[in-house]
Amino acid sequence: MLAPYERLIHLMGYIKSAALEETGYVVLDSYNQELDPKEWLDIEYNDWKSSGDTRFAPLASAFGDIECNGFWNHKPPRTDKDGVWIESQVAKAPNLARRAQEPGANVGRCRVIELQPTPYGDCLYNLHQDDNNRLNPDGTGWVVRGFFNLTDDKDSFFVLRENRTDPQGETRIALPAGAQLIIDTQRLWHAATHVGTEPRYNLITSWTSGPELDAYIEKYNGVNRVDSFEVDQEILDAGYIEQARKDAARAAYYAAKGQQAVNVMSEA
Ligand SMILES: [Fe+2]
Repeated sequence: MLAPYERLIHLMGYIKSAALEETGYVVLDSYNQELDPKEWLDIEYNDWKSSGDTRFAPLASAFGDIECNGFWNHKPPRTDKDGVWIESQVAKAPNLARRAQEPGANVGRCRVIELQPTPYGDCLYNLHQDDNNRLNPDGTGWVVRGFFNLTDDKDSFFVLRENRTDPQGETRIALPAGAQLIIDTQRLWHAATHVGTEPRYNLITSWTSGPELDAYIEKYNGVNRVDSFEVDQEILDAGYIEQARKDAARAAYYAAKGQQAVNVMSEA
């Protein structure tokens, strides 16, 4: 029997997936991407400031317009839930829209990211946390993000860290076509290393945690630990140096302007 205040504590807090509790991510069974047309080449992209050299093609947005702004930047401001599907985009990418809606969890923003080649050191510099739960009412589902890799980027990988500048415990997740991840991107620092000459495309969906998402994770055998993608120690070491160099350059840039460097990079 819980005391009244204990019951209150149990009632407070967000609804989160138990599967994500330990590591902050799950990797699902791979999707057979080869069978689907390359819909990401048909949809409309717009420039949107994010970490790295990127463009985005929204499929669902705050009001169904082709824009990527956080829902809290609209009037009235709201949390990243109840995204409105953009008809013209969904008509060109029905499979992507179907996959984003398959879990049956509430969808906030849904968009395809186009990322130009990004070496490991730049990726470390790009590590950021997402602002997924601004204005999200306590007691409701925590917003996490799904990442479906669309292009076959066999040498590329997602980097996840608990601490932006500490490589200890870094997880690197391979990104072949069909790779499916769900990540608490507000908790984990994340960015992609993309090796190659062509851009990488990945479908990103904001989902509300709850029984629907839990069932989806179970259906596709989500695992919360994978072997880290193998990278030569030399490349890792060079990356650490490059991240520190770029961080220092940014700090110097802001110091010259008499401002403090914004260390917590947050992607909207
Ligand atoms: Fe992000």
